[in-house]
Amino acid sequence: MRLNGKTAVITGGASGIGLEAVKLFAREGANVAIVDFNEQAGKEHENGNNVLFFQADVANRENIDLAIQGVIEAFGKIDILINNAGITRDATLRKMTIEDFQKVIDVNLTGVFHCTQAVLPIMLEAGKGKIINTSSIAGVGGNFGQTNYSAAKAGVIGLTKTWAKELGRKGINVNAVAPGFIETDMISTIPDHILMQIKLITPSVRLGKPEDIANAYLFLASDESDFINGHVLSVDGGMMK
Ligand SMILES: NC(=O)c1ccc[n+]([C@@H]2O[C@H](COP(=O)([O-])OP(=O)(O)OC[C@H]3O[C@@H](n4cnc5c(N)ncnc54)[C@H](O)[C@@H]3O)[C@@H](O)[C@H]2O)c1
Repeated sequence: MRLNGKTAVITGGASGIGLEAVKLFAREGANVAIVDFNEQAGKEHENGNNVLFFQADVANRENIDLAIQGVIEAFGKIDILINNAGITRDATLRKMTIEDFQKVIDVNLTGVFHCTQAVLPIMLEAGKGKIINTSSIAGVGGNFGQTNYSAAKAGVIGLTKTWAKELGRKGINVNAVAPGFIETDMISTIPDHILMQIKLITPSVRLGKPEDIANAYLFLASDESDFINGHVLSVDGGMMK
């Protein structure tokens, strides 16, 4: 029980990587708040006990303030924030619309700002906290067809390093995880032959599973990582090495 007595907010916790983290954190003894805009999927995973769902769009500050207020009313505190919600709207630079550029920035970058700023007063008052932001190999190395996504995910690394510097002295650790290609809905539109090529250029010769990322979140959320701050942990089978 590595998270006994802790409360975690997991954005995008209704499916994919986030859902895997919700299940793992609950097994490790945490109270878990799923914050997601998909009400149907989110509600399915409530258990009326230590896993509750709060519907919110991370790009909407009012939504997030209300959700965080709800989490405090339900669980009384927040020790861990996983900024995991994310979307893609892929196109090459030549074809990308400004709407698709802006939408991805709003959710994947500004959403991280909103959620962290909303939770921050609670962690400052407690004098401790763990914030884990989800970046991507695309944020580290760029990726074909992902101008918007790569910019947002590189921005997430910038936020992470800045917040570690600002908040470390307040007892708050801020780290990022940079997943490689992980088997979730997000990569379901990639054709099989491309996925095969991706596997072949990955030193571990496979795609990632949601639990590979959930385990990294768990380590960074646990007391075992107390002296790790401002780090970007690649969980990509060695792809970015
Ligand atoms: N799957 C991959 O290969 C991969 C690789 C690198 C990084 N990531 C990142 O990991 C994170 C999780 O991705 P996933 O693969 O589990 O995707 P997913 O599509 O399976 O899940 C994303 C979740 O985020 C929620 N969400 C989307 N927009 C939201 C919003 N505006 N407000 C609230 N919730 C919202 C969705 O409803 C969904 O439950 C994302 O940040 C993604 O960018 C994924």
